[in-house]
Amino acid sequence: MANEPEPFSEKLRVPEALTFDDVLLRPKESRVEPDEADTTTRVSTNVTLNVPVLSAAMDTVTESDLAIAMARHGGLGVLHQNMDVDQMVAEIERVKRADELIIRDVVTAEPDQTVREVDEMMSRQGVSGAPVVDEDDEVLGIISGTDIRPYLEVGEEDQVSEAMTDEVITAGEDVTPREALELMYEHKIERVPIVDDDDRLIGLVTMQGILQRREYDQAARDEDGRPIAGAAVGPFEVDRAEAADEAGVDVLFIDCAHAHNLNVIESAREIKETVDADVVVGNIGTREAAEDVVDFADGVKVGIGPGSICTTRVVTGAGMPQITAVSQVADVASQHDVPVIADGGIRYSGDAIKAIAAGADAVMLGSYFAGTDEAPGRVITMNGKKYKQYRGMGSVGAMSEGSGERYLKEEEEDEEFVPEGVEAATPYKGPLADELHQLVGGMQSGMGYVGAETIPEFKERAEFVRVSAAGQQESHPHDVMITDEAPNYSPDDA
Ligand code: XMP
Repeated sequence: MANEPEPFSEKLRVPEALTFDDVLLRPKESRVEPDEADTTTRVSTNVTLNVPVLSAAMDTVTESDLAIAMARHGGLGVLHQNMDVDQMVAEIERVKRADELIIRDVVTAEPDQTVREVDEMMSRQGVSGAPVVDEDDEVLGIISGTDIRPYLEVGEEDQVSEAMTDEVITAGEDVTPREALELMYEHKIERVPIVDDDDRLIGLVTMQGILQRREYDQAARDEDGRPIAGAAVGPFEVDRAEAADEAGVDVLFIDCAHAHNLNVIESAREIKETVDADVVVGNIGTREAAEDVVDFADGVKVGIGPGSICTTRVVTGAGMPQITAVSQVADVASQHDVPVIADGGIRYSGDAIKAIAAGADAVMLGSYFAGTDEAPGRVITMNGKKYKQYRGMGSVGAMSEGSGERYLKEEEEDEEFVPEGVEAATPYKGPLADELHQLVGGMQSGMGYVGAETIPEFKERAEFVRVSAAGQQESHPHDVMITDEAPNYSPDDA
């Protein structure tokens, strides 16, 4: 009898799952100019962003500097969890206070210091003036660069009390930005010390601070006008969650590589009950996982293994290509009005807007921001090119500094970690604002091609087409040699 082919195994009747390069947005009739596309979105029940972008909770991406820059430009920075609780509280407070009208941490001078000492101190601290106070913090005068310039005939060894301006214009704590500016114009000064009823210094308002605040007209702020802040906590870290909440964090991210673990969900529920902040649960990648969290979560985060530094899929054999993962989760979350964040795998602005088309309300990126000035770590030069360090939170280096819980792993003495990420370097990119501008600008252009003015409208209108391997190749520059690098495209990212 001739060899019969084996019947097809049921196990191998499997659905196909897609990712960014498998799809493109179908262009549609449009009257929307990209610059007019409104990128306002909700990231969690009570928090709205002006741009639909978050920076990853990774120790080579988001600390307070980057979180401040993200909020100032309309997005959200999520502080990583590889720091002790006190440090995290300090970082959250730093973000929340970044654009405060009144600077509380004031650099002051003493009357009997020498002009030289104060000059050196001011340049070390990066300020151009300082209130002069006595031992009870009572304001005696104010000294600035202008007071101590040589042509004013002040000697380097003269005492500050001889060089300072002693007619000081002060204001009380309830001063408004407008009142402070009026005082500054009227008296031709650039800083106003803020004093209590006993004339003791409690802060400082500067012209530069007021103008800077005005510059960030796109900033994402809370109802008191402070920049919004996010922070990641390990799935079982109830104490950390409470401390972050008390410090004023706006959104807490239960940060786990596999949040469809039922112990994680139980703990996340407990955390949600104890805090005021919104609680986003992640990461998940399937419809069933979404069903298990949408009844209590203020947002869900999607991504099982798409990240640039992830090895989860190759190490564990598990994962879900990101466009399918986002669309499955969004199918469920949208029924419950729970925002969805697509986390990981985004290399270009086109990927980011595809994630929104698949149903996400916002996107989270790690590698895209790791090379910016505001990310932690210094710039290193290799073969004449500049880089910054970027590592997975599941890499050996990051796990040994605390992030093991994200992977539901505890550190055992004498036992090596089983990592799910690598340690790497990423090209240095300069200021975050420039990167974010390219990312959001590209996303707005995508909205223009689909003819949608807002993110909700875009999600409604967007349709995908499937792309063949040849179509994918056609999408990138081809048959040419790139001579000048574009600010939003590098063939190395493909
Ligand atoms: P991108 O692609 O933007 O991804 O660099 C950032 C996201 O990747 C996740 N992440 C990891 N996933 N192993 C993983 O499997 C890791 O070591 C790791 N570290 C970060 C995380 O969701 C992040 O936002």
